[in-house]
Amino acid sequence: MNYSDWLSRKGLEYRKEILYFADKNTLDIANSYGTPLYVINEQMIRERYRSLKNVLNLEYRNNQINYAVKANSNLSVLKILNSEGASFDCTSMGEVYTCLKAGISSEKIIFTGNMFTDTDFTFAVNNDIFVNLDSLSQLNRLVRVYETFGKEKKGISFRINPEFGAGHHKHTITAGRDIKFGILEEQTIEAYRKAKEAGFEKFGIHQHIGSGVINALDFGKPAEKFISIIEKIIEELDIKFEFIDFGGGLGIPYRPEEEPLDLESYKNLVIKPFLDLVKSKGLGEPIFKIEPGRYLSAESTILLTQINTIKDNGFKLFAGVDAGFNTLIRPTLYNSYHHIIPCDIKGKEQEFEYDVVGPICESGDILGKARKLKKLKEGDHLAILDTGAYGFVMSSPYNSRPRPAEVLINNETVYEIRRAETFDDLLNTQKIPDHLK
Ligand SMILES: Cc1ncc(COP(=O)(O)O)c(C=O)c1O
Repeated sequence: MNYSDWLSRKGLEYRKEILYFADKNTLDIANSYGTPLYVINEQMIRERYRSLKNVLNLEYRNNQINYAVKANSNLSVLKILNSEGASFDCTSMGEVYTCLKAGISSEKIIFTGNMFTDTDFTFAVNNDIFVNLDSLSQLNRLVRVYETFGKEKKGISFRINPEFGAGHHKHTITAGRDIKFGILEEQTIEAYRKAKEAGFEKFGIHQHIGSGVINALDFGKPAEKFISIIEKIIEELDIKFEFIDFGGGLGIPYRPEEEPLDLESYKNLVIKPFLDLVKSKGLGEPIFKIEPGRYLSAESTILLTQINTIKDNGFKLFAGVDAGFNTLIRPTLYNSYHHIIPCDIKGKEQEFEYDVVGPICESGDILGKARKLKKLKEGDHLAILDTGAYGFVMSSPYNSRPRPAEVLINNETVYEIRRAETFDDLLNTQKIPDHLK
């Protein structure tokens, strides 16, 4: 893919050397709303959802995309995906609560927590949310909660750890014997037998191998193992699965030289084996589920930031900006690459190498290392790309810096969908004991 195609797949283009995003002038947006600022392109979320849904529809009608809320839980983002027909995968009570507040019905939510507490179970049961268990030990506790509240048992599923994982960083690989997630093959029969004995009648099964998988081949082995486990459960326990969930993890091309995820291979390695399983075991029409987060939201968003300081320390050049790892932590936490481009490329013929750094009082506050950019000056604006997943949701008020605003562009109109925090927001959960007043 050439560079301008790569940009345009993300809704970006230069017009008269000014960067436009979703047909809006990025400098105008920065000037109107200030920086740092997350800017979300509504149509991009819709497009990604629709194109993925089309791929699934062509293979198997009874499919469901559960958006992984953790990637971006802004109410407007959830409402956009809800209006497209998505379902939702939540990892915490807070995410479930947010989905319900966004008007999403409880039947469209699955709670894939880990290290569940009884409070989590109580919240799920009282809100009619389907629970996807992560440990054999949690089953009895969940049953007790159902009984305490006299609620009819919803179905149950377990997250399986197929032992083959993948991901963009070791912290995002979620399968393997030494990884905390899911239950290993040896415990799966016992898990479903106990669930049956406890009176559950509807069953699902789930795996999620990791996040940020850009090489589709990485999905092959885990899918194979997952399917072999499902076959064993069916043979031993005669269980009929209502859904089979292959998890998320679908990556996006963060670097200009990267190709998008090869969905053709994904189909061959995940969907086709699922279809073979359904046919060979006569499973009827279980729901084929996946739960992508990043794939649907990452490329929908840019983070606008302004350069406040150009520092030449005699050894290297730093472009100091007003976004830091408090705003976008992925580069610091995972050494992740986010492409960074100027909002105005006048004078682009002359390039220099910069470390793009934030204002946080730590040396690790680097958003982009050794980036070749036009000669930058204080006051210029930069756009940090692909920040719609694990961007704002992972931000913090570290160094007592209020979190930024988020705006949404739809049909060339810009809507503020989250105001920037104020200094008072930083303090308003604190209480001062009498003796310090
Ligand atoms: C259970 C589960 N499902 C889905 C996802 C979404 O991953 P991604 O955003 O890479 O698709 C995650 C992310 O960690 C997850 O833990």
